[in-house]
Amino acid sequence: MTHKQEPKNHIELQFLSEPSDINYGGKVHGGMVMKWIDQAGYACAIQWSESYCVTVYVGGIRFFNPIHIGHLVKLQARMIYTGTSSMHIAVDVYSKALGKDKFVKNTHCIIVFVAMDENNKPKQVPAFVPRSERELAMRDYAVRLMELRKQIDEEMKPYISDHI
Ligand SMILES: CC(C)(COP(=O)(O)OP(=O)(O)OC[C@H]1O[C@@H](n2cnc3c(N)ncnc32)[C@H](O)[C@@H]1OP(=O)(O)O)[C@@H](O)C(=O)NCCC(=O)NCCS
Repeated sequence: MTHKQEPKNHIELQFLSEPSDINYGGKVHGGMVMKWIDQAGYACAIQWSESYCVTVYVGGIRFFNPIHIGHLVKLQARMIYTGTSSMHIAVDVYSKALGKDKFVKNTHCIIVFVAMDENNKPKQVPAFVPRSERELAMRDYAVRLMELRKQIDEEMKPYISDHI
């Protein structure tokens, strides 16, 4: 796996999907893609906060296209919003056959990490200040998703309870 890390608010991973990543249909297993998303998000969160981080939320994963075994996989993780201790990161997954020019987009999702201090308590992170038009649009997207998530959390509350 390789990664580029300039500037500090995003990270890119590129690697080949392996025969051991396979699902029952011969393509890359969805669970493996979720693991890669978590790893890319984690690397981006650590790079930003310079402290240990945990995943607190993953949302909106939609697999648009399958990833084939032996293809080049590219994950781009980008900081789009920070709260006090939380970091909202957009992760896009692309792949292509080796030797081809164009990557195909396979998946997009938002993953939220929380920075933790040495006592395992949420810790303040540096504020991400969007500057470009694209960064401002992505920040607004993160804020809208947070609002929508409150509604989803309400809807899911009865099913999250231990007593069901
Ligand atoms: C992350 C964790 C410490 C947060 O604990 P908590 O009691 O909810 O702490 P807080 O209420 O202070 O929330 C901390 C941050 O998480 C955010 N958060 C909590 N639930 C969230 C959710 N569903 N979606 C997005 N962010 C969420 C809060 O908004 C807060 O962000 P802010 O500091 O930027 O305002 C706790 O939930 C935990 O340990 N979870 C398990 C993490 C883990 O093990 N992950 C691995 C995968 S299982």
